[in-house]
Amino acid sequence: MVKPVTKAVFPVAGLGTRFLPATKVVPKELLPVVDKPLIQYAVDEALAAGIKDLILVTAEGENLISRYLEHADALEVVLRERGKELELRSITDGLPPPGSLTCVVQSEPLGLGHAVWCAKELIDEQPFAVILPDDLVQADPGCLAQMVAAYGKTGGNVVAVEDVPREQTARYGVLDVEMEYGRLARARGLVEKPDPVEAPSTLSIIGRYILQPEVLGYLDRQECGAGNEIQLTDAMAKTIGKIPFHGLRFQGRRFDCGNKLGFIVANVAFAAAREDLGGDICEVLAPFI
Ligand code: UTP
Repeated sequence: MVKPVTKAVFPVAGLGTRFLPATKVVPKELLPVVDKPLIQYAVDEALAAGIKDLILVTAEGENLISRYLEHADALEVVLRERGKELELRSITDGLPPPGSLTCVVQSEPLGLGHAVWCAKELIDEQPFAVILPDDLVQADPGCLAQMVAAYGKTGGNVVAVEDVPREQTARYGVLDVEMEYGRLARARGLVEKPDPVEAPSTLSIIGRYILQPEVLGYLDRQECGAGNEIQLTDAMAKTIGKIPFHGLRFQGRRFDCGNKLGFIVANVAFAAAREDLGGDICEVLAPFI
């Protein structure tokens, strides 16, 4: 029996430089895909996967994301008075249950590994999930739910993976694959942002992880890796050989909403899948394509 995953960390303290000027004031996790901010998709996915405790790692002085995840009392009163039930539900239904959300501050953006390490006290030696909200996955069941099911069989560390074009490996953590069975790839090593010629495979980690607390022990060392940042991939790599490490080829489509093109495509794909918009979207886009 593996220990269940009930905690999820949402690192949202990055600078978001690829999305300036939009991210000068508004964190990228609040940018909407159709009409829902990225953080809301991430929270929905976590709750659907059975997560009970949500840990937000925010930048110093940043409180817009946590405010978004709280009740907006005054607005709720107005919507209720005006009989706008649908609109009211749209701002209340997806909120984390009372007491389930905690925020910690990453005082400097030293890297994803450091952001996750900032949540160490709250993770408290339990297995935990990490969701990067700017990697948006369109999937049913959700990507994290698929991973939780796989983790029930494999235990250890499980990351969501997909093949990327070889020329893009330098943007990802890449698996050195030992063996594959079904949708699972067992790794014997990991490389962060390898040059395409040196990448051990094209199987790349996207922003979904289920990790054992041992990973945090390696992050304690605060060692810098690629890009002079404290890398989560490096800490995960150090657990290989001690803890099983698997990549899951999840079912669904992933959109890298941390870059402009990925964000635009996500908006089109999510709009096309919507009953209220899908019919019109091809028609209105046709003149531009
Ligand atoms: P990115 O690599 O997308 O970096 O971070 P970024 O700073 O957000 O964006 P760019 O590259 O400047 O455009 C991946 C995830 O890790 C978080 C980000 O918020 C994002 O969810 N992160 C990154 C942190 O929380 N802290 C960090 O120090 C770095």
